[in-house]
Amino acid sequence: MAEFKEAPADAPAAQKLMTWIDNRFPASKMYKEHLSEYYAPKNFNFLYFFGSLAMLVLVIQIVTGIFLVMHYKPDANLAFASVEYIMRDVPWGWLVRYMHSTGASAFFVVVYLHMFRGMLYGSYRKPRELVWIFGCAIFLCLMAEAFLGYLLPWGQMSYWGAQVIVNLFAAVPFIGPDLALLIRGDYVVSDATLNRFFSFHVIAIPLVLLGLVAAHIIALHEVGSNNPDGVEIKAKKDEKGRPLDGIPFHPYYTVHDILGVSVFLLIFSAVVFFAPEMGGYFLEYNNFIPADPLKTPAHIAPVWYFTPYYSMLRAVTDPMVNVFVVLVSVGAAVTLLLGRLTTTAKVVVIASSVVFIGLLKVFDAKFWGVVVMGGAVIIMFFLPWLDNSAAKSIRYRPNWHKWMYAIFAINMLVLGYLGIKPPSDFGTLVSQVGTIFYFGFFLLMPWWSRIGEFKPVPDRVTFQPH
Ligand code: HEM
Repeated sequence: MAEFKEAPADAPAAQKLMTWIDNRFPASKMYKEHLSEYYAPKNFNFLYFFGSLAMLVLVIQIVTGIFLVMHYKPDANLAFASVEYIMRDVPWGWLVRYMHSTGASAFFVVVYLHMFRGMLYGSYRKPRELVWIFGCAIFLCLMAEAFLGYLLPWGQMSYWGAQVIVNLFAAVPFIGPDLALLIRGDYVVSDATLNRFFSFHVIAIPLVLLGLVAAHIIALHEVGSNNPDGVEIKAKKDEKGRPLDGIPFHPYYTVHDILGVSVFLLIFSAVVFFAPEMGGYFLEYNNFIPADPLKTPAHIAPVWYFTPYYSMLRAVTDPMVNVFVVLVSVGAAVTLLLGRLTTTAKVVVIASSVVFIGLLKVFDAKFWGVVVMGGAVIIMFFLPWLDNSAAKSIRYRPNWHKWMYAIFAINMLVLGYLGIKPPSDFGTLVSQVGTIFYFGFFLLMPWWSRIGEFKPVPDRVTFQPH
């Protein structure tokens, strides 16, 4: 136990109270460590707003969620009507509900930009691997949270969307049908499903999410923030041990972040008040029709933030599995011919590719679609060990790397667009090419990230006062 401190007898009451608290709880210590003496690089740009914005949206979701639960009924016979009741009869209920539904989309906009910022500046690389891994786990939770929440209004899209996605689990070999049954709690999506999704959506996942966000920030503050130059500011310190290129988070970035929050709230309010359905992208029109287990909608599409992954799922057809077989064979042949491998390693490469090709042909394309969809998120966890480039930040990487990242972003947008549309031959072909690019981007990164002419990385961050 730390020694008890005494405030001077004539100290103001507030100071005495703070001393009393500090003797029992590290309030001032935490304030210093995470705010007033947390030195953040002085060259943050607007892309660094999105971390604090993600926290803001998390708070909006939790607060509006609490109020929604006061009136919502997790019962298949009452759920749809209880949401209508919130919209029409509960004072300000429409606002709370639209803030929550818009908040879900805003969360993904903010988090996608936050992740892309991390990719551009190499923020996942040593020493921030754990910050990134916690981030990827947050992203997984966020997807689960959004999916589970979407069933709750018990509209047509809630019902059939859940039906489609839960049925995917049935494609898992051997345990699939039992797994789907376990998730649904019934042979079809039903009241039992609604109850368990409700319980996970309002308590289990939010708890995990909050824990992960705390771990994310603690890990970040342990190693310090990266910045657009990818230069470690801790390498150059003054005589008091403060980074020369760092400024205290509070007041500088707390005030700075108010700008980001203001712009965000302007856009957020505009959507909430003037376009809460966002043309059917934030709230699908079919979801204003109560769930009807006897009437399948003509076209079932997930909400926009899932559609890049949904496209990848749909891209895996039987011919696409054959393309995978060719790619695995070519990959193995290139490794055998160009890699300087020992005989044992060669045997391992041959044996594992034969086994993998066998599995590709034995199991259904639908199963591989599920693997591809899940793999597209899981592969992000490995990013810190895939990137071999000599510079962290895109600023000092070869110009063609910028194109790679631009194409990566455009590819995600195209996949997202195709995932919203009903399937077509041309759309499937484009999403197949997009899926191969997506995985190629990550799997070949250890090779391509090293190639090209890197620019010299400065010792200190670049900064123009404005
Ligand atoms: C609820 C979701 C999230 C919240 C509340 C959150 C919060 C934050 C905050 C406040 C920061 C510091 C400010 C900043 O750098 O912008 C940060 C940094 C960071 N986050 Fe997140 N984050 C979330 C999700 C994610 C996800 C999904 C990823 C990646 C998969 C991620 C990766 C990172 C990285 C790498 C940094 C360090 C950036 C740097 O120093 O350059 N975060 N996060």
